[in-house]
Amino acid sequence: MKLIIPIASGKGGVGKSVITANLGFSLAKLGHQVIVADLDFGGANLHNYLGLKNNNPGLGEFLRDRSDSLTNLIVPTLHPNLQFLLGEGATPFMANLNVMARRRLLVELYQLPAEIILLDLSAGCNALTLDFFNTSQTGLQITRPESPSVMNLLEFLRQTIYHRLLHYLSKDRNLLNQIGNFLFQTINSVPVVTMRDVLQLISAHHPKIAKRLQEDLEARQVRVVFNQVEQQEDLGFWLQVQALARDQLSCSLESWAQCPTDPSVSAALKVQTPLVQQGVSEQLLCSLRQLAKRIQNYWFGSTSKIGISTDHQDH
Ligand SMILES: Nc1ncnc2c1ncn2[C@@H]1O[C@H](COP(=O)(O)OP(=O)(O)OP(=O)(O)O)[C@@H](O)[C@H]1O
Ligand SMILES: [Mg+2]
Repeated sequence: MKLIIPIASGKGGVGKSVITANLGFSLAKLGHQVIVADLDFGGANLHNYLGLKNNNPGLGEFLRDRSDSLTNLIVPTLHPNLQFLLGEGATPFMANLNVMARRRLLVELYQLPAEIILLDLSAGCNALTLDFFNTSQTGLQITRPESPSVMNLLEFLRQTIYHRLLHYLSKDRNLLNQIGNFLFQTINSVPVVTMRDVLQLISAHHPKIAKRLQEDLEARQVRVVFNQVEQQEDLGFWLQVQALARDQLSCSLESWAQCPTDPSVSAALKVQTPLVQQGVSEQLLCSLRQLAKRIQNYWFGSTSKIGISTDHQDH
């Protein structure tokens, strides 16, 4: 069984890479074979958090056809169960991969020799990030417990839904243009075009597609990791955010972990100590251990819940 977990955020700098590195480490310590892959094209820096140098060939080699397999590019880390796939920061415009290149990359990622593959995605809503986040229902959304970050999370979800609409309605440009209203608004827009309105509109033209989309949305459970939580009161707005997501986007949000602010993180990064193993305090490690166990129980429990979209095959 193979579990791919795309790790994304609507806003940059919220801790995706810190969490990817340390969650990978926690899962490796539970006995899983794990690969962490740096898919933050243009901003690749996951190696720093693992205490590795950026002097190995990485994803760019594969994308420039100098390596025919991603498996040849993985390198060891401090933990024997944890391996690393270096990203690409040197080549300009690498984030604008075309559909064929994205598909080829995705297919190869599924071939990597690991049980769990964590994808550290770039922040925001570029096509690669949306594509990879939509590939499975197994992603994690990282956010700080602050309004800009949470609002960006909701915007990110709206864009992922629109990305799905593009896929389902690729043959009905007319209808897509009408649905554009859903995209060209913010979560605070009044009057709001909700996903329910959109589904109604689709249903009038393509009832089967509307039904599939509805099922897709119902199956979509967005797992949120709060990072840099300082006190419980920081999360006082959470019920409101869940209601917004439900009412406007027909999405259900679930909080999967709350990671504390850890002063040793920036101290370790200043002296280039790998964050995994010695660079992180017990408190942060403990919340990531709990997240790792939750992932283990949920995805590797008695019944597998992994739903992998085959969109990359039929786009
Ligand atoms: N739990 C934490 N405790 C303390 N500092 C943290 C924590 N998480 C992240 N940081 C700080 O925030 C910075 C940004 O984190 P990180 O690079 O993981 O964010 P990111 O979401 O990957 O950013 P980008 O969008 O640029 O890729 C880190 O360099 C670190 O200084
Ligand atoms: Mg990052």
